Amino acid sequence: METKRIAVIAGDGIGPEVVTEGIKVMNRAAQIDGTIQFEYTYFPWGCEYYTKHGKMLPDDGLEQLQAFDAIYLGAVGFPGVPDYISLRELLLVIRKKFDQYVNIRPVKLLKGIESPLRHGTEQTIDMLVIRENSEGEYAGVGEWLEKGTPQEKVLQTGVFTRKGVERIIRYAFEEARRQGGKSVTSISKANALNYSMVFWDEVFEEVSQEYPDISTHSYLVDAAAMFMVMDPGRFEIVVTSNLFGDILTDLGAAIAGGMGIAAGANVNPERLYPSMFEPIHGSAPDIAGQGIANPLAAIWSVSQMFDFFERPERGAHILTTIEKLLAEKTTLTPDFGGHATTEAVGTRLVELL
Ligand code: NAD
Ligand code: IPM
Ligand code: MN
Repeated sequence: METKRIAVIAGDGIGPEVVTEGIKVMNRAAQIDGTIQFEYTYFPWGCEYYTKHGKMLPDDGLEQLQAFDAIYLGAVGFPGVPDYISLRELLLVIRKKFDQYVNIRPVKLLKGIESPLRHGTEQTIDMLVIRENSEGEYAGVGEWLEKGTPQEKVLQTGVFTRKGVERIIRYAFEEARRQGGKSVTSISKANALNYSMVFWDEVFEEVSQEYPDISTHSYLVDAAAMFMVMDPGRFEIVVTSNLFGDILTDLGAAIAGGMGIAAGANVNPERLYPSMFEPIHGSAPDIAGQGIANPLAAIWSVSQMFDFFERPERGAHILTTIEKLLAEKTTLTPDFGGHATTEAVGTRLVELL
């Protein structure tokens, strides 16, 4: 029996609501598996903590996390605390500090979900977005000049390093091989971004030479957004920058059913640091506290955690069980047209497992 230590940061808004259901599923799946068990430590960090302590987490918070096998996170951010503080000081600092440079976000239309796309079918929407997760426009580099004057000017610098761009593109090609030779599509914007994206395209071209067995495509991000709606079937493994990946995976969530089912893994492939699993949605202040948030995104992240812990059959089991629950149509939250509570969905999923 292997024991994995999980740091749980449930966070703000619907974060704690969906994480509770995710943990129920984790425990049941581990019990069925019989070779793995989880030990949880809960960290009450987030916006409420900020209002009491003036910071999002204690000074040694990141050190405390370092020893865990993985982090399971709900959502961060709530009205009352500026987003650039809450997110940069908690979520983004974890991704950065633990070099979770790969953000793996499946955009897959599961059986039982009707895509908002008229022509969408499960055959045509199944892509894996590999989002660069450590640099780009998220580097936090910039300047605020001559504040309050007519000459006021702000610079937000995108940082793209050889190491950072090469490793994420290489990860995408390796993933394409792991998945039996799927195609790799790079999404960039070199027609307007004459440094960062020209560099990105060059590195993509270079790395692709090492993978003659993998077919490639390259799109400008605006066209890619259009194709994701008009012809999503053309994408398999997608690799893109931090900011473009952020935006395109919300679009991906939309074509695959909505924010309620979009999951993500922030991975340090070298396993030098803990990786972090989280739904890609936020704290949803508009529905927080009502018990109606869809927990399926948080549960899909649990499936990704089982994959990460080398239990892919268990990960797949959770995903097919989500499809079973969808097929029943009896236990769905309002965003999926049902009347069920967050808790009822988690409980039903555990029963179906
Ligand atoms: P959001 O994802 O929280 O919500 C967008 C819309 O989707 C809302 O209408 C919400 O009700 C709906 N939604 C989201 N998750 C849902 C779920 N599980 N079930 C049903 N409906 C769901 O995005 P936002 O409103 O732009 O951001 C709210 C806060 O969350 C902000 O502070 C933002 O910075 C933060 N945020 C955090 C994360 C994170 O922690 N990873 C991600 C995105 C946004
Ligand atoms: C996400 C979120 C974060 C991001 C925000 C909250 C900083 O939108 O995980 O997609 O932009 O990465
Ligand atoms: Mn996002």
